[in-house]
Amino acid sequence: MKRLAGAALAVSFAAFTAGGAVAEEYRMGLITPPPHQWTVTAKEAADEIKAKTDGRVDILIFPSGQLGSEAQMLQQLQTGAMDFAFFTLGEFSNRDPNYGIFLAPFIVDDVAGAQKLLKGETAQKLLDGMADFGLVGLGWGMAGMRMIVTSDPVETVEDLKGKKIRTIPFAPELAFWEGLGAAPTPMPLPALYDAFANGQVDGMQIDVEGTWNSKYFEHASSIIISDHMMFPMAAIASGRKWAGISEEDRAIVEAVFSEKLDSLVAGYAEIDADYRKKLETTEVTVMDVDRDWFGPALEEWYVRWREEAPMLKELEAEASGK
Ligand code: BEZ
Repeated sequence: MKRLAGAALAVSFAAFTAGGAVAEEYRMGLITPPPHQWTVTAKEAADEIKAKTDGRVDILIFPSGQLGSEAQMLQQLQTGAMDFAFFTLGEFSNRDPNYGIFLAPFIVDDVAGAQKLLKGETAQKLLDGMADFGLVGLGWGMAGMRMIVTSDPVETVEDLKGKKIRTIPFAPELAFWEGLGAAPTPMPLPALYDAFANGQVDGMQIDVEGTWNSKYFEHASSIIISDHMMFPMAAIASGRKWAGISEEDRAIVEAVFSEKLDSLVAGYAEIDADYRKKLETTEVTVMDVDRDWFGPALEEWYVRWREEAPMLKELEAEASGK
């Protein structure tokens, strides 16, 4: 019975290309909205893959969490009910703390530093380790460097104490905010605009691109450009579905994602700078802060996470060029 249902499902997604080969539709999910660079990149990759495989691999893009939260999408990827995704580190780092090491505060200074680490040995090991989750890691991308948006004016890190700051529910990020005396409030990205507008959260850790495109600035008094964390994205495929794609088409899919992810990451320095300029045209105060602004909580974070996530030390060595 189960086998029949599976077969019916497969037939409903399969068609034939002009050349007579089987053309299959695949589903790719993301939590980012349509204008976000992740979604734009996914669409560009899908178009190119369709063209280069003569329509055999046709990836349909579902942005804004249409296929569910990342937790729900992970389950679908594992069962083969969906096929591709761009994911934050949340679901990985909650299963293996080593995936949270990229969130080490100020592990890199800027996008160029992030780009280097995402091509490094530690990043590759983590990508390979995704097989343990029933996934194929296709490569790393990123969103812009993390910064802070608050509804009340903020000048010093003390002003963040007790504030409800929206985060992603990953332990290293929660620990960072707890260390600063704030109240990290995990919340999915699609729920954030309303939560900020109605005061359910007092601020957020986010990227400049999202701050502009999703108009979070409309309810903000302070925009703090801290660049305090890089924010990797994992491009992944369902291990089950991947096994059913021909070797030739898998090579095309891998090559296209690799090239698109590289240009996504490389582009972020400019994307961050452009959106920052846009934010400076608003009424909101835009302020730059550096590592010292955050005080001793940062070192305390490192002491704890070197214990919790042994690969952090490897990443620190890579970041410092040792
Ligand atoms: C966020 O949840 O903050 C986020 C997720 C994906 C891209 C950018 C930001």
